[in-house]
Amino acid sequence: MKHIDGITKALAAYYDQWPVAKRLNEAIYYSIDSGGKRLRPVLLLQLLEGFGVLLTDAHYQVAAGLEMIHTGSLIHDDLPAMDNDDYRRGRLTNHKQFDDATAILAGDSLFLDPFGLIARAELPAQVRLNLIAELSEAAGTYGMVGGQMLDMMGEGRQLTVTELKTIHANKTGKLLAFPFLAAGIIAELDSLSIADLRLAGELVGLAFQVRDDILDVTASFEELGKTPQKDLSAQKSTYPRLLGLNESYDLLNDCLDQALAIFQKLERDEDMDLRKVRDMIERLRLHG
Ligand code: IPE
Ligand code: IPE
Ligand code: MG
Ligand code: MG
Ligand code: MG
Repeated sequence: MKHIDGITKALAAYYDQWPVAKRLNEAIYYSIDSGGKRLRPVLLLQLLEGFGVLLTDAHYQVAAGLEMIHTGSLIHDDLPAMDNDDYRRGRLTNHKQFDDATAILAGDSLFLDPFGLIARAELPAQVRLNLIAELSEAAGTYGMVGGQMLDMMGEGRQLTVTELKTIHANKTGKLLAFPFLAAGIIAELDSLSIADLRLAGELVGLAFQVRDDILDVTASFEELGKTPQKDLSAQKSTYPRLLGLNESYDLLNDCLDQALAIFQKLERDEDMDLRKVRDMIERLRLHG
């Protein structure tokens, strides 16, 4: 709870400044304060603590920046021109509550604000530069946005498992890998450890989208806070559709096992305590 509250406070501190357009801030607030799990920023903070870093406001600002981009990606993902969803986190989607133009602009803000926020955080200049470069790549053309384009182009087509993996790795994997990478950058770990963290993060990221695809088939509106069975009606290629549910569960658990093995190796070789991170990753398991 301590981490979630700190993230919420950092988000509020940014958006509580005098608004240029009140309606824009209201739309942003509606989505950033709507009960998201805050998985990505919490992972970042737990990793930092696991590396022995004492948390400061700057770390909460980086965590908040990551949550901003994630939330912006959901607002745009739900738009009529994209997945056309009416519910998110148990309530109306941003464009249903406000209107399409406002939702587009709220997403635009949430994509652009983090870079200024991180640029001004109290961290060494080289650390800030690396974080900004990595976040841009994870979020933009070479990450989430690129993956979302592939996802849209894949609707109504039968993709190969390799094509699907590329979509998932980009639309979800890269932003989920960012906390692992960012924690390594902030703690100024050596490049080998950072490479290990990137790989572990990408495995968790792929697992997370496989999990989301499984839950789309198996979970209820109450559990998801969003309309279930949407992937089928949108004719999306998903792991359950291509491989069946059983193999999807296996793939999810396999990716998590591989990521956990990397953390165990890091704990063995470096002076780290990643128990909390491992517990969070364990909680992503699903059993068929
Ligand atoms: C949902 O992400 C979208 C995907 C990338 C699969 P989360 O499940 O982390 O969404 P919130 O933030 O908790 O609502
Ligand atoms: C979205 O994937 C990933 C993003 C980049 C937002 P989905 O379209 O499967 O996410 P949900 O199911 O709507 O949350
Ligand atoms: Mg989508
Ligand atoms: Mg969607
Ligand atoms: Mg989904």
